[in-house]
Amino acid sequence: MLAATFAALVTFRCPGARHQRGLPGPRGAAAGSGHHPCVSTVPGAGERQACTRGEPATLRPPPASPPATRDSCQSSSGAAAERGANDCGAGEGREDACTGCARPGQAPPRRAPPRPAARGALAPHRAAEIVPLRTSSRVCHNAAAAVQDGGGGASTGPQAAQESPRMYTKEEVRSHNSPETRVWVTLGSEVFDVTEFVDLHPGGASKLILAAGGPLEPFWSLYAFHNQPHIRELLAEYKIGELNPEDEVSPPTLEASDPYADDPVRHPALRINSQRPFNAEPPPELLTENYITPNPIFFTRNHLPVPSVDPDTYRLHVVGAPGGQSLSLSLDDLYKFPKHEITVTLQCAGNRRSEMSKVKEVKGLEWRTGAISTARWAGARLCDVLAQAGHRVRETEAHVCFEGLDSDPTGTAYGASIPLARAMDPEAEVLLAYEMNGQPLPRDHGFPVRVVVPGVVGARNVKWLAKVSVESEESHSHWQRRDYKGFSPSVDWDTVDFDLAPSIQELPVQSAITQPRDGATVESGEVTIKGYAWSGGGRAVIRVDVSIDGGLTWQEAELEGEEQRPRKAWAWRIWQLKAQVPAEQKELNIVCKAVDDSYNVQPDTVAPIWNLRGVLSNAWHRVHVRVVP
Ligand code: MTE
Repeated sequence: MLAATFAALVTFRCPGARHQRGLPGPRGAAAGSGHHPCVSTVPGAGERQACTRGEPATLRPPPASPPATRDSCQSSSGAAAERGANDCGAGEGREDACTGCARPGQAPPRRAPPRPAARGALAPHRAAEIVPLRTSSRVCHNAAAAVQDGGGGASTGPQAAQESPRMYTKEEVRSHNSPETRVWVTLGSEVFDVTEFVDLHPGGASKLILAAGGPLEPFWSLYAFHNQPHIRELLAEYKIGELNPEDEVSPPTLEASDPYADDPVRHPALRINSQRPFNAEPPPELLTENYITPNPIFFTRNHLPVPSVDPDTYRLHVVGAPGGQSLSLSLDDLYKFPKHEITVTLQCAGNRRSEMSKVKEVKGLEWRTGAISTARWAGARLCDVLAQAGHRVRETEAHVCFEGLDSDPTGTAYGASIPLARAMDPEAEVLLAYEMNGQPLPRDHGFPVRVVVPGVVGARNVKWLAKVSVESEESHSHWQRRDYKGFSPSVDWDTVDFDLAPSIQELPVQSAITQPRDGATVESGEVTIKGYAWSGGGRAVIRVDVSIDGGLTWQEAELEGEEQRPRKAWAWRIWQLKAQVPAEQKELNIVCKAVDDSYNVQPDTVAPIWNLRGVLSNAWHRVHVRVVP
């Protein structure tokens, strides 16, 4: 996948390639921008040329009634062309001045050069000014911007502009975070307006938008192939200025007593459902980009502040069996157990809760489809450690209770339990994990040691593990006994009795669509539909059915990812379907449902499985999109 994206990126090095390959122009990027797409390249020449328009130093708002046709300025963005705007000035009798516009019979030109929004008074989306910041001599200079700028950091001539780049604050960059406000990003101290590139981004516009208004570095470190000279060169074409060095954002003032003050720094792509405690999910388009979820965007579900643990003094306390011995294990002690490595998907019981709350209010965080992620975990098998403490499988029911190092102000730690039979079963592969995707566990995911219980709800995968004990009863923790349980839709907060329902362990079969997004617009022809599917208890996903007509007809999706072992299918499958959509189609009602190897299927609607905590939300996932020819 990454290789394909990279190859695509190389192919797309010439932004005009999209036009040349007959692909549609960008949509939406320049909508309402009053954008001047005076194309500074000669079609086919592959080089930028100076624009010699000598535009008057006045602001020109977008035309009120679009006079131009698509033909008159094919170099405009798709959106501009659609609304009939001729930003080359055709409506003002100035079409000739735009050397880059295609004439009938000519090859279409490359896309317009980047156009920064003005500082200060100008509404960015209306700004007609262009300030050149490329240091190359072949730059489309527009003196209007410098005049509009009022001298606030910008210079008034090409020469001066080259010498002193325009300076921007981080706040200004942050405010340019959508195609409507324009899409700015930073790399190091440089600021780029990549609005015109958004729809050309080979990985998809929505992925680039994730970085809008902030630094590219966190994304480039995830998708490292970006960090190459020719991609930097491409980016350089969009440079509009520099970050003001005096604009060092002072860290937000935190109360000394703030229990979350020491929480780790998180990846900006995560969609935050709650900041304190931190709960966040990866956006759908990144979630299925990789079979293995990169650590920085793995969903995070914390109930309490993240504990700070010194790995040198860390000890895991394992209470011994009667006649056995209790253990106090350092990390080095744990490393001495045979190292076991497996790919496991973790899913929170609240995944897709937001769909339940549309039926009727539920209590809980509004997780969308991203409270699920997959990693390669490595550590000691719990059964080996328990055996060393003298534990054996018992005939009577017993539970292995886990306690975390995170605790609330009363000193109560997060806790959960699983049946001893599962813990002692080598085939169940329960881990005391110290590695996630080849790295020590990140702090948010339980550094230095967490439990990984394959096939079982996320809540039992206790992080920052402090204590393991074997008890005749389940953990007394709130999260075992008063939460993470399912109820009938008829049960409400007046009638609920948590003692009557078993705690959730294995989760039901699940699937969701990650591409396209609900509400998106797709083009007719071949439409790629993508998503994930998983089932609890090691049950393999044997099929994913996808419908584009709301469930009237179905097609089987292609399953990708690791082969699933019988009864040990701990990880999800990514699935994909390339659907053929006729040009006359106006909309798609996309639905997906998975089937596991016990022939469990997902329920078709949410209402019959609604429950007051909004857990176990696994109805058919539905996405509605508009189709354009
Ligand atoms: N362990 C501790 N100690 N504290 C927690 O808040 N949250 C649980 C579980 N383990 C939690 C915990 C829940 S509800 C889930 S879904 C998973 O951790 C999430 O793991 P992740 O944050 O690594 O994705």
